[in-house]
Amino acid sequence: MNHKIINFKVFGDERGNLIPIEGNKDIPFDIKRVYCIYDTKPDIERGQHAHKTLEQVVVCLHGSCTFLLDDGEKSEEVHLYRPDKALYIGKNMWRSMHDFAYGSVLMVLASEHYNENEYIRDYNAFLEGLKSD
Ligand code: TYD
Repeated sequence: MNHKIINFKVFGDERGNLIPIEGNKDIPFDIKRVYCIYDTKPDIERGQHAHKTLEQVVVCLHGSCTFLLDDGEKSEEVHLYRPDKALYIGKNMWRSMHDFAYGSVLMVLASEHYNENEYIRDYNAFLEGLKSD
């Protein structure tokens, strides 16, 4: 499956912790966009789409949530609960997020600017697209 956990290096001392994140170094692409998801509700589901080309790294800055990842053949759940264990999601992966803990904050680093045309929002179209890849 086209996803993996990225372990960031933590610089911690008696003052607290610091995690540097550099494009093309700590994550495998140039960062063109950053967005945040917060004020989520525990009983909602987000996502439910795939991307034709976009790569993303999701960093859970606070709280926790669960990602359901599906490559059309297999699916796997990944629980995000700490900022030093981020989730890389490559192209052609159907994803949804649920089980948000109260007050969770996600920061998402993206390889491209926002482009709605690059989203696949229909699951059957996602499966069809995989056949022609
Ligand atoms: P949406 O795709 O529904 O979020 P999620 O993947 O968490 O379900 O996005 C919500 C709204 O935000 C939608 O109107 C599109 C807009 N948006 C942007 O304008 N820029 C962005 O970078 C993103 C991710 C979303």
